[in-house]
Order: sequence, then C-alpha cells, then structure tokens
Amino acid sequence: MTNPYQAAFEQSMNDPDGFWAKAAEDCHWYKRWDKVLDDSNKPFYRWFTGGQINTCYNALDYHIDQGRGDQLALIYDSPVTDTIKKYTYSQLRDEVALFAGVLKAQGVEKGDRVLIYMPMIAEAAISMLACARIGAVHSVVFGGFAAKELATRINDAKPKVIVTASCGIEVKKVIAYKPLLDKAIDMSTSKPGKCIILQRPMETASMIAGRDVDWVEAMSAAAPADCVPVAATDPLYILYTSGTTGVPKGVVRDNGGHVVALKWTMKNVYNMDAGDVYWAASDVGWVVGHSYIVYGPLFKGCTTILFEGKPVGTPDAGVFWRVISEHKVKAMFTAPTAFRAIKREDPNAELMKQYDLSNFKALYLAGERLDPNTLHWAEDALKVPVVDHWWQTETGWAIAANCLGLHEFPVKEGSPTKAVPGWNLQAVDANNQQVAAGDIGALVVKLPLPPGTLPTLWQNDDRYVESYLEEFPGYYKTADAGYIDADGYAFVMSRTDDIINVAGHRLSTGAMEEVLSDHPDVAECAVLGVDDSLKGQVPVGFVVLKAGVSKAEDEIVKEVIQMVRDRIGPVAAFKTATVVKRLPKTRSGKILRGTIQKIADNQEYKVPATIDDPTILDEMEEALKGIGYAGSRKS
Ligand code: COA
Ligand code: AMP
Repeated sequence: MTNPYQAAFEQSMNDPDGFWAKAAEDCHWYKRWDKVLDDSNKPFYRWFTGGQINTCYNALDYHIDQGRGDQLALIYDSPVTDTIKKYTYSQLRDEVALFAGVLKAQGVEKGDRVLIYMPMIAEAAISMLACARIGAVHSVVFGGFAAKELATRINDAKPKVIVTASCGIEVKKVIAYKPLLDKAIDMSTSKPGKCIILQRPMETASMIAGRDVDWVEAMSAAAPADCVPVAATDPLYILYTSGTTGVPKGVVRDNGGHVVALKWTMKNVYNMDAGDVYWAASDVGWVVGHSYIVYGPLFKGCTTILFEGKPVGTPDAGVFWRVISEHKVKAMFTAPTAFRAIKREDPNAELMKQYDLSNFKALYLAGERLDPNTLHWAEDALKVPVVDHWWQTETGWAIAANCLGLHEFPVKEGSPTKAVPGWNLQAVDANNQQVAAGDIGALVVKLPLPPGTLPTLWQNDDRYVESYLEEFPGYYKTADAGYIDADGYAFVMSRTDDIINVAGHRLSTGAMEEVLSDHPDVAECAVLGVDDSLKGQVPVGFVVLKAGVSKAEDEIVKEVIQMVRDRIGPVAAFKTATVVKRLPKTRSGKILRGTIQKIADNQEYKVPATIDDPTILDEMEEALKGIGYAGSRKS
C-alpha cells in the first residue's frame, strides 16, 4: 500500500516537472516560468527558467497581501542582552523596505554583492531580506571566523557594501566585530565602497570617515524600496563553506528554485503551516540559518525565532525549554551537539519540568551524526518525534529525512530515514556502480539535483564540476560515505574528504594544515578530527619539527594553536596539538590519517600493509596518550 511519502517520492522521480510545477504554484511569480527543468546546458541544470520572482516578496509582502500582516513574523529572543523583540509581517516588511532603501542610497543595485558579518540579531535577517528585495546578492559570514577568512570571502565576492555590527556576544564575552572587519578590509584586495555599522550599546565601534555609515542614521534618512522582479535563475546569495583547501567554496543559491523548494519542505518535511511557530537554533552564518531561520519559515508564513544565546550558560540548560514554552514553538531544529551540551549539564532534564511544552510537536536534528544516546535522551525527555535529517550547505535542504508532513516512518538508530522526494540517492562503488543494499559506498545523487540546491560555485564553474560532478559522472558527489539498507533507509557514516564537523560547524582539516605548515619551525604536519563527547569531533594537530629547532616544543604547540585561532578563527576549536618525530606514511609517502584517527579514537585497526615503518604507530600511540587520547588495540 502506498503512503503519501511514497506517492510524492515516485512522482518526483517519474515526473519532476509536474511535481515541482505544482509546488511552484504555491509561490508568487511576476512572470511564470517557460521551463520547469532546463537541461539545455548539462551538467548545469536550471529550474524555472524564464520565470520572474522576488524572494523578499514571497517571504513578507505575499503574507501581508493574504491578510496576515498583523501576525508575528519574527521574534528576536536574546537571553544575552535580556531582550525579546517581536515583529509582525507588516513591521518586518517596513524595516526591510527601509533598509533596502539604505542599500540603494549607497549605490547597491541588482546583482551587486553585499557582505553581511553580523551576530544573531534581527538586523542580520533584515539585511538579508533587504538584499533580496532589490535583487542584490548577499553573502553572510559567520561571526566566529577570523579576519583572514573574512578577507578571503571579501576578495572572492567583491561586495560593494559590507553590513556589520559593533559587536557580538558569546555567553558573557563581548566580541568586537568592527576591528576584525577593519583588519579584513586592510588585508583584502577588493575594497567595499561603504560599510554600514549597527552600533550596539555594549561596544561602540570607531567609524572611518567617508567609508562607514551608521545604521540608525541611514535608516532615518532612507526612503523604503520596493521589490524588484529578478530572473528565477538569478543568484540570491553566496554562502562560503569549507572545501578541501584553505580557499572556501562559494555555494550559489538562485531565487526561484529556492523559494519553491524551501516552501515545499516547510509542510512536507517539517509539517508546518502558516501561523505555526518554528525555531532553528543555529546561526545566520550557516546554511541552516539561511534556510530555516530566515527563508523557509517566512516563505510558509510561520513565525520564526532568531535566538541570540547558547543551549547552556545563557543562563542555564533550561533556556531551550523556556523559549519553546514562551513562544509556543511547534517544531525546533538544532544540531545534536546542542542537546549533548544540555544533557551534560542537566542529565535528567530537571529544568524541563518548569515549562509547559504542550505546543511542541517535533525536534529536528542535523549537521552531524546523531548518536543513539542523544537521540534516545531527547525522545525520552521531550516525548515527541526526534527526526535526524541529513543535508549540506550545498544542498540547501534535506537529502534524507523522516518527512513528518507526508508520513512518519519508524526510526532506525543512526539513520536520517529515507531520501526526501526530489532526491535520487544511491550508494555506489569506485566504478560508479550501485552497491548492494547494506553495503557501504559513496553516497551520490543522480542528476539533476532538485530545485533550491547549488547551480554552481560563485564564478567558478570549473571548480563546481571538478568538486562535485567529475568523480561519478552523471551524479552529484555528496562526499559522504554510507549505505542504504533493504528498507531504503540511508546511513551516513563519514566524509570521504578532509571535512570534519565540530559542534555542527563544518571545517577543513586541510585548511588547518595549511596554517600549521606556515610556522617557521614546522617541517610537516597532519590535522585530524577525533571523537569528542560534546562536539562530535575536534581537530587535533601533529607537527614534525625541522632539524635543528631549539625552541621548546610546548612553545611551538602554543604558537600553532594561536595561529589557527588568528587565521581561521575561534570556531575551529583547535586546542590540542603535539610534536612528533615523524608521521606514519605509506611507502609512497601518503600520511596514514585513517590509522592515526583509529588509534586516537581507541578503535581496532590493522597495521596497513603499505606502511613504511610500523614502529611509528607505537610512537603515535604514545604521543596520543600524552594528549589524552588512545589506549589503542591492534589486530
Ligand atoms: N562569533 C564569535 N565567536 C564565536 C561565535 C560567533 N558567532 N560562535 C562561536 N564563537 C567562538 C566561541 O566563543 C568559542 O570561543 P572560545 O574558544 O574563545 O571559547 C569558539 O568559537 C567555539 O565555539 P563553539 O563551537 O560554539 O563552542 P562552545 O564551547 O562555545 O559551545 C556548544 C559549545 C555545544 C554549546 C555550542 O557549540 C553550540 O551551541 N552548538 C550548537 C550547534 C549549532 O548551532 N550548530 C549550527 C548548525 S545547526
Ligand atoms: P554543512 O555543509 O555544514 O551542513 O555540513 C554538511 C555535512 O555534515 C554533511 O556532508 C555530513 O558529513 C554532515 N551531516 C549533516 N547532517 C548529518 C546527519 N544528519 N547525519 C550525519 N552527518 C550529517
């Protein structure tokens, strides 16, 4: 017997045009598309070519036109500043239109880039929507990145204007953003014309005359700007994400497919209706923040929550329950690490007992593997479905999920359930042949990808093809390995590249190695992600020193740790490194990262047949024990 999930999945495979055209009917278009799927320039597939749309109109004005102008659109809840501020759809639209006017007054036109480097405040969402309103392309950079990372993104996106705030607040620490921005602009080759600065009371930024514009002053002088129709295929945003080198990938998202796909997911994946309250506890600097703090919930006409706080310490491990109860949240989305942090502080969920969670219907987790312990803890404490779902910055929405809006499947530990409609997910071997059910392979998606995914990388079609499409012709490479069982459940095991997930944040160990190699005393190095009970994984560095170095090893370790913090940022959470005499390698000189990782994680490992000198593994074990890891078993 088919259920609604199966029917939707089958239609999305057999008749993608019909399936997505129906979803597109639910959105506002200035001009309907000529083609639903345009495959005239393979492998660059485009959706809704010929169509004209505006993302901001679909997020705000559309709902006002439908008579929901007085409904809450956004609640800014900030325990770190003790503030709750609510915006109705009409109020948010007016703020956004005014800020769009500010951008226009600063010379921003359709197609121009605007870089947004902001903490979790309502003005971050307002800036994003204002860009969308006038057809400008935003690029939001996460606040935990260092000036150098910011400079790399400025150089690639070449923004006309940068929007920032004087500071962010990390629990109790005030992090000055403006000096980081000034340093990044000094380092970058592409200088923005103007910077718009929101002064927060906890830290006032010094302004550079002629370049810096005060947010409040500019708003008071601005005229509201209206929505500009853009091509469905025009870019809405660029979001940089870790690649396999220090140069991040500029993931592009278009306007039309993005509105259609995200609006569809709100009901079908998350079971949300207009008027419901949805909360993604993430950051606007990540894809989750783009898709599910700002765009998805607003496309659907929900109330979204923008939370400036942490799962613990702001003020305690009960804050998630307070927010759910106070704002009548129906569904929440966060990373498993947030629940591990809460579980560690309040193992019996005592703090939950103070709150009425009767409106809460489901918890969605993503960003990293959901360990069974955390899954069951959340299920037992909340007594609602806990949905593990799997996706990536590139995909913009879930590849696999238990789509509660269609059909609730039984949960299998370690699985994000089944491919979401639109995703032809397969596990293949190195020859691009599908492997048997239950066998591990590379997880790939048969092209074309559904709407709302990445059409390319910013001004880099070659890197797009080379990174995602070349290894498995006809397929998109997710760079995750895993398997699909006989019931069609996907299991995501590990990355096939150097990406690690630290507290749900995506980082490249290759980029950290590039930093370590720049230390004058380091001859070679390796950085690996090792298991961590709170953050899922944390990076650990191994450095081999150049001959004749006399500086104390401790000193060098401190320096390389500081270098990663200065160049990549605190978000890298690079706090552990050690000096070793040599690194285990194959005879052809490849570092045996997998083996080192197994030793660190105390897993069984085989001494690789290709190893140059097996005694190095004993040295590695000693080194790892010295920094609190290993105690390993060999087979
Ligand atoms: N601006 C500036 N600095 C930031 C930052 C930001 N937006 N976000 C994080 N940082 C800093 C932190 O202050 C910390 O610095 P420190 O080394 O000086 O202490 C460092 O980056 C690491 O931050 P984080 O990964 O958040 O670790 P934490 O130990 O401070 O907190 C958790 C641990 C689990 C509470 C936290 O990671 C968390 O809430 N995770 C939720 C996951 C999440 O939202 N993921 C997004 C994808 S869904
Ligand atoms: P990001 O681009 O930051 O969203 O990170 C994407 C990567 O996070 C994926 O390629 C996976 O490696 C990992 N990931 C995301 N969600 C899950 C999940 N539900 N289960 C396992 N891994 C996940």
